[in-house]
Amino acid sequence: MISIVIPTFNEVQNIIPLIKNLIVLISDFEYEIIVVDDDSPDGTSEEVNKYMKLNNRIKLITRIGRSGLSSAIKEGLIFSQGKYILVLDGDGQHHPSFVIDMINVIKKKKSDIVIGSRFLNTSKLEGLSNKRTLGSNISNKLARISLHRNYSKLTDYLSGCFCLDREKTKKFIRKIEINGFKFLYELLALSKGDLEVNEVPLIFKERRFGNSKLDIAIVWDFLVSIIHNLIFRLLPRRAISFGLVGISGVFVQLFIFSFLVEILLFDFYRALPFAIVSAATSNFLINNQVTFRSERLKNSALYIGLFKFLIVASLPVIANIGITTAFYRYITADTFIAQIAGIAIVYAWNYLASASFVWKKSI
Ligand code: GDD
Ligand code: MN
Repeated sequence: MISIVIPTFNEVQNIIPLIKNLIVLISDFEYEIIVVDDDSPDGTSEEVNKYMKLNNRIKLITRIGRSGLSSAIKEGLIFSQGKYILVLDGDGQHHPSFVIDMINVIKKKKSDIVIGSRFLNTSKLEGLSNKRTLGSNISNKLARISLHRNYSKLTDYLSGCFCLDREKTKKFIRKIEINGFKFLYELLALSKGDLEVNEVPLIFKERRFGNSKLDIAIVWDFLVSIIHNLIFRLLPRRAISFGLVGISGVFVQLFIFSFLVEILLFDFYRALPFAIVSAATSNFLINNQVTFRSERLKNSALYIGLFKFLIVASLPVIANIGITTAFYRYITADTFIAQIAGIAIVYAWNYLASASFVWKKSI
């Protein structure tokens, strides 16, 4: 039995034509088609529901209060029953004609994963803008260096279209982190080169109706995951994201400071507090959009959050001086190492205190 999992969000006009195409292609197999819809406001679930009455191999999971492409895929996979499971986008961008190729390859070549690749020589890439193609190229290169070398010949680590052997992949699937779009990348990272992976060429079409849901937060989430893997998954993803935002704050502070001093002719002592508070505010706002996106603060909670964040961030200034001095005095007389130690401890404090005090929920 083949299970086909299709994640959807606002694909009301795309989903039924896609299902119809698929049914024609796979009618020789025993199959089930599972749509995982996040309660799309455009009525995608209702549309699928109507169609289910005509064909009982079509199943629908409508999730209320949960969202995200990777998490939808994970839920669909866990719900499915087939020996082989195929995942593809619900907007019709993955031309269904290769579905049979993928199923054949996974059966014959004894692959554990078959990826529908947009970047093989024989693939046809019609639906990616130049900007997206460039972004995908860079992302694929980063993915390659961060994954096990057994996977270095692959060409599309971020494809949304792949076929899995359930038994071989199920222990990894359980562990996949569910934020963002990077389901396949995560699966490859967790399996550490142990799976047999092959690719077949894909035809990637233009989207017919609606818009892509890929946004800057998805890209950020992916970059954080790359770093997460490069450092052997030692730090939590959120701590990495928080650290990157902190680095951006350094630049904000330097920029505001020199703007105030050079252009507005402030003196050092007047400029410094402005620059520091601007950098902290910028850190807070960016963290609110990316690092703590799922607990994002809005309206009045945003101002209260900013106030708390400024308090949290101001405490370690004193601690930093103390720790750096202590390190210098008692542990090493190297000023550089002493400063790095101070920064590391302040960073850990800021992250832990922000996560539990400003954005509360989990750390
Ligand atoms: N259930 C659910 N929840 N489905 C979602 C969500 C979500 O939060 N976000 C997106 N989807 C569904 C869309 O409805 C679509 O069927 C599919 O996931 C892909 O989303 P698109 O928004 O169309 O993505 P894209 O075309 O920009 O991105 C493609 O390329 C990426 C790599 O560059 C996709 O193939 C991605 O899977 C791929 O990672
Ligand atoms: Mn798409």
